[in-house]
Amino acid sequence: MTRQNTQVVLVRRPEGMVRPDDFELRELPVADPDEGEVLVETAYISLDPAMRGWMREGRSYVQPVGLGEVMRAGAVGRVVASRNPGFAEGDHVTGVLGVQRYACVGERGLHKIDPSMAPLPAYLGVLGAPGLTAYFGLLEVGALEEGDTVLVSGAAGAVGSVVGQIAKIRGARAVGIAGGPEKCAHLVEQLGFDAAIDYKNDDVRARIKATCPSRVNVYFDNVGGELLDIALTQLAMRARVVICGAISQYNNLEQTRGPKNYLSLLVARARMEGFVIFDYAPRYGEAFAEMGPWLAQGKLTYRETVVEGIENFVPAFQRLFTGEKLGKLVLKV
Ligand SMILES: NC(=O)c1ccc[n+]([C@@H]2O[C@H](COP(=O)([O-])OP(=O)(O)OC[C@H]3O[C@@H](n4cnc5c(N)ncnc54)[C@H](OP(=O)(O)O)[C@@H]3O)[C@@H](O)[C@H]2O)c1
Repeated sequence: MTRQNTQVVLVRRPEGMVRPDDFELRELPVADPDEGEVLVETAYISLDPAMRGWMREGRSYVQPVGLGEVMRAGAVGRVVASRNPGFAEGDHVTGVLGVQRYACVGERGLHKIDPSMAPLPAYLGVLGAPGLTAYFGLLEVGALEEGDTVLVSGAAGAVGSVVGQIAKIRGARAVGIAGGPEKCAHLVEQLGFDAAIDYKNDDVRARIKATCPSRVNVYFDNVGGELLDIALTQLAMRARVVICGAISQYNNLEQTRGPKNYLSLLVARARMEGFVIFDYAPRYGEAFAEMGPWLAQGKLTYRETVVEGIENFVPAFQRLFTGEKLGKLVLKV
């Protein structure tokens, strides 16, 4: 029986929010793997804000996705045919498999995962790039110290929710910024944040002052724009501002809003530093060694929003920007 692939192909560079006609759904027979390759049937596809950047031309930390190419994405799946001695049929794997039902890939960047340790989508969230980003971003770039006050934006998302929880585990205070009362309640009641700020309804500056009376030692920024500007005015001496992302700007990177209040760095003798998680690849094992037990002990919890159907890629992806999701957003194939 010939397997049939379904691929989501980028056919136009999006302007602003992605639209259905920026992509085409392509059906084609699946080719057999070549020597050294494996054929993976994808189960869950990761939807990440960074993918919006990969759709545009211009200098970045990776090549843009070419027009006519399958949209790049991390995913988890099961090996259904292998011509690589390192992988056997039935193995579960994670890697950059793309938005498609089947991916024929080499071993580079492909990792075996154990579905008996955690459900498959967890390997795209808390045990995937977002969890690692939270871990190294907070502990290494943010140089977290016990007793610090950590303020994190995008706090109910895949990265932000882990940042706040690691801060608490390591003896810091955690204050999260998220959109809407439900997400804010979730942060405090389920994830153990000390306080939450609803950027859609609260006076953010006043709430930071109220919830961070000793000011902010680490501002972990996932959002950029106005929230970054406000947070800069609330830094403690020698604060660290971690530039993880700027989702508020991704749909209009041509006119990025820069940090107007950057001189607050001078006043607070603070530093602001960006990072890309891939640079920490040789050290991922350190993160898993700590985060695995935290998960097993229930100190670290996570939520997922699962959208079904590869044909729903565009409306699902849009939810990253509208905020209609909680925790890690994944597409179930
Ligand atoms: N540096 C790295 O290596 C690295 C690696 C992974 C991720 N990242 C970055 O980390 C950030 C978070 O990624 P994630 O995967 O965890 O995504 P996510 O937080 O799970 O999803 C995005 C969230 O951003 C919020 N948001 C969207 N537009 C916003 C706006 N205009 N203002 C304020 N909040 C807005 C929404 O939540 P609300 O409902 O709260 O608005 C939405 O749920 C992104 O900026 C991403 O690019 C960086």
